[in-house]
Amino acid sequence: MEPRWYTEAVIYSLDVETFADSTGDGCGDIRGLIGRLDYLSRLGITCLWLAPIHPSPGGDDGYDVTDFYGVDPRLGTMGDFTELLHRAANLGIKVILDLVVNHTSDEHPWFQAAVSSRESPYRDWYVWSDEEPADRFEGMVFPGEQSETWTWHEQAGAWYYHRFYDFQPDLDVANPAVREEILKIAAFWLHLGVAGFRIDAVPFIIELTEAGNSNSPKDFPFITDLRQHCQWRRGDAMLLAEANVEPADLVRYFGDEGGSNNRLHMLFDFMLNGRVVLALAREDPEPVIDALRDTPKLPAGGQWATFLRNHDEIDLSRLTAEQRAEVFERFGPDPDMHLYDRGIRRRLAPMLAGDRRRIELAYSLQFTLRGTPVLRYGDEIGMGEDLSLPGRNAIRTPMQWSAEPNAGFSSAAAKKLVRPVISGGEFGYETVNVDAQRHDPASLLSWFERMIRTLRESPEVGVGSCAHVDAVLPDGVLAHRADGDTGTMLFLHNLADRPCTVDLSMLAEEAERPDWVFADRTYPPVNGLDQLELAGYGYRWIRLKRRAA
Ligand code: GLC
Repeated sequence: MEPRWYTEAVIYSLDVETFADSTGDGCGDIRGLIGRLDYLSRLGITCLWLAPIHPSPGGDDGYDVTDFYGVDPRLGTMGDFTELLHRAANLGIKVILDLVVNHTSDEHPWFQAAVSSRESPYRDWYVWSDEEPADRFEGMVFPGEQSETWTWHEQAGAWYYHRFYDFQPDLDVANPAVREEILKIAAFWLHLGVAGFRIDAVPFIIELTEAGNSNSPKDFPFITDLRQHCQWRRGDAMLLAEANVEPADLVRYFGDEGGSNNRLHMLFDFMLNGRVVLALAREDPEPVIDALRDTPKLPAGGQWATFLRNHDEIDLSRLTAEQRAEVFERFGPDPDMHLYDRGIRRRLAPMLAGDRRRIELAYSLQFTLRGTPVLRYGDEIGMGEDLSLPGRNAIRTPMQWSAEPNAGFSSAAAKKLVRPVISGGEFGYETVNVDAQRHDPASLLSWFERMIRTLRESPEVGVGSCAHVDAVLPDGVLAHRADGDTGTMLFLHNLADRPCTVDLSMLAEEAERPDWVFADRTYPPVNGLDQLELAGYGYRWIRLKRRAA
C-alpha cells in the first residue's frame, strides 16, 4: 500500500492555553502558537494535535464543550485559527483537533434546553432514566473525583448519565439527530482545513447506554459512518482514537469483519505504553517483547500511535496488580504521584531521575517501535511536573521557553497565569528551557531534532513492519527490526546499565554494507554484526539495507 501521511508523521500534542501567550493576559493563545511554529518546524514534527479549543467552562480542561463550532475567546478567534492552519501548512505541518463528542458541558445550550422540559427537542440528545439505575455507582472513569455515573437532575426531574464528571452529560448516539450533528461538527472543521481528529473516548461515544446495564451494547457501525463521512469530505482525513480497551476488542475499532480498515486509521497503543513503562522500570525488555508478540494484526492502513506521556495520567490499568506495584515503586514512590488508583501523574524526565541516558533510551525506543510517534509538548526539553497542582494538572504546566520571568510563556503577572510555571530545582524553567537548549548541540532538544531527522530517513519504522529479533542477547537488551519497501533497519536498546557486546551475525547475510545511523555515542563500524558494542542504557540504529522504494 502506498504510504499514507499519518504512517510517516511525528505528532506533537499541546494545549494552546499553556503553550505561548501573545497578549499578556496569562493564557496561551493561537497567535502565540503561530509565533512558535518555527520552533516546531525546526524540531521536525509534521502534525500538531491540539487539545480542545472550543468555548468551555473549563471544568475538565476544555473537555467540557459548550460550542463545538467555535473557538474559545480566551484562545483567539476563528480567524486566528484559520491563520494557524495556513501558516502551519506553509511549514508542512498538519493540524488535528480533539473531537470530544461523547458528552457536552452541562452548560451547553443543548443540555440547558434538555433539562428545561421533557418536550424540548434536545431532551433525547442525552441519556435519561426516570428510576434510579442499578448501575448508578459503576463505570466511573475518575475514581476519587467522581462518585457515580448517573446523577439526579432536579430541574429535569430525571437521572442523567455521565461516563465522566457529572458536569459532562453523555450525548445519546442512538439518536439519529445526535449522529447527524457529530458528522456535521467533523465536516465543519475538515472544511476549515484540519487534517483529521484525535477522537476522545471512542468506546463511550458508541455506547448505546441502557440504564441498569453496566455493559451496554456498542454501535460500531457509527464509527464506519463517521469514517465514510470524513473521508468523503476530505480524502486524506485521518481519525486517531483514544480507545483503551481489551486487546481482543481492538481490531473492531479499525475495521469491520470484512478485514478492511474502514473505521479508525489509528489508535493510541495503551497496551504498549504500559509495557514500555514496565520494561523501563525493570530494565528488562521482556514486557515489550510480549507486547510486540501479542499485538493484534491490523488491517492494511491501520496504524498504532505510540506515546510515552500524554496529557492524562500514565494509565497502568492493563498491567497486573504486581506489575503496577513495581512501576509505582520505581517511578512513583510517593502516593501523591498516583492517580485514579491506576496511574502516575508525572512527566517522564523526573520519573527517570533526569538521567539523560535513560530519557534518550526511552524516546529512542518509542520512536523506533512500530507506529506513529506522538510527543507531548515540553518532553523534548525534559520538563518536569508540579505535584502541588491537583490531579492531571501536575503535567499541564506552561511551556518553558526561556529563563525570563514566567519562563517566557507570558508577560502577565505570575498570579494571572493560567497555571503556574515550574520554577526552581532541577526542572525549573531557570534550568530547563528552550533558549538554553536551542544553541547547545549537546542538549536534549538538539538530540530530539537529530533523532526526528534520522527517523525521516528511516521510513520503514512508520510504514513497514516491526518485529523482535529472536536471538540470544545479553540481559537487558532488546533487538528489533523494521522492514519496508525502502529497506531494513535494526535497532538495539540496552535497558540496563551494563555495557555489553551483542552478536547479531545471524543477520549478516541480509545486510548490505550495514552502517549505524544514530546512537547514544560514537561506536566503531558495524562490520560483521558479531561484535556490536552497546553502552549501559545505550542504543543504536543500524541500517541493514536500503532499497529504492
Ligand atoms: C479523555 C481525555 C481526558 C478527558 C476525558 C473526558 O480521556 O483524554 O483528558 O478528561 O476524555 O473528556
